[in-house]
Amino acid sequence: MNRDVKELVLPHLRAPAGYDGVRSLEAMASEAGIPPEKIIRLNGNENSYGPSPKVAKALGAFEQYNRYPDPDQTVLRHALSEYTGTPAETIVCGNGSDELIDLIIRLFVGKGDKIIEPTPTFGMYRFSTHLVGAEVVPVSRDKNFNLDVESIELALDERSKIIFLAHPNNPTGNLAREDDIRRLLELPVMVVVDEAYYEYCGQTAMPLLSEYPNLIVLRTFSKWAGLAGLRVGLGAMDPEVARLIMTIKPPYNMNRAAELALMASLDDQELLLSYIRPVVEERERMFTLLEDIPGVTPIPSAANFMMMRLPEGQGERIFQDLARKGVFVRAYADDAMKDCLRVSVGLPQETDGFVQALREVVGG
Ligand SMILES: Cc1ncc(COP(=O)(O)O)c(C=O)c1O
Repeated sequence: MNRDVKELVLPHLRAPAGYDGVRSLEAMASEAGIPPEKIIRLNGNENSYGPSPKVAKALGAFEQYNRYPDPDQTVLRHALSEYTGTPAETIVCGNGSDELIDLIIRLFVGKGDKIIEPTPTFGMYRFSTHLVGAEVVPVSRDKNFNLDVESIELALDERSKIIFLAHPNNPTGNLAREDDIRRLLELPVMVVVDEAYYEYCGQTAMPLLSEYPNLIVLRTFSKWAGLAGLRVGLGAMDPEVARLIMTIKPPYNMNRAAELALMASLDDQELLLSYIRPVVEERERMFTLLEDIPGVTPIPSAANFMMMRLPEGQGERIFQDLARKGVFVRAYADDAMKDCLRVSVGLPQETDGFVQALREVVGG
């Protein structure tokens, strides 16, 4: 072939931005020159308590990995209906809620269309929107990271299709007011309320589903159930929208291991939910410890992570110094966030290791 293959690539995908995902423990360890067991990994909002022990048992005992999973997700949707309290026909399972974000965008957003995101927020909305050649309209939150609903209303035009609302918001950790969510739902667009951290705050838009056919609620098993590595997410929505998503999704998007892990986790809900309170308590303990470090201002959070402001101009240096000590947190490139870090909340020893390292590096 005498043609540059890049010419065959879609023009808008010739230099994609990509998504800065959490790297493997081994990559982090080799970057820091520290053994993997000494790494403090607080950059992915994962669950340090791990999955239910019933997951490994179910995966080990299963003997039919040679068979395709159920494309209709019948058992899963019924089980999730019980967990979420919404009918099975409103539910779709995804390979992580990331896949559902992608499918929702593919169903509603075409080239030249727009999605609106109150920024700063979770990066996957932007990522999947760029893949379909559509435009992201960022609308800044106010100085306390609350929604600026008026500016969102003003940003809307006939090409706007979806508003993505992470709730609580990642990375700022705050919730929105119900009347603000209702105002968004009155707009002539889809509204995705992404409740990845629902189990940590108990606040949900799920009861609004019966009132608003343009509402989609997303949840995940990555955070409360410790299944980030197995990829289990779900969306609840108008049954007709659910039917369409079921039709366009890859038929076997929930693999057999994910199916088993989902069911085993629901079977062990009590244990998994018993880890929520220690994480919330740990978050509050970390908040108090951070308040005591001069120049560090933690931001209250309703999730299993927390954002903090650092002394001006020091964000990147502090992030790098922490990484050299084997402490990995999340930093942000955009101007408004360049002196902020987000840290996940895990076990007490992880908090202590992080806080001690931060104390050492903040002074320079
Ligand atoms: C707001 C939000 N939505 C979705 C996700 C992705 O979840 P999943 O692991 O189910 O793809 C995350 C993960 O960090 C998140 O913060």
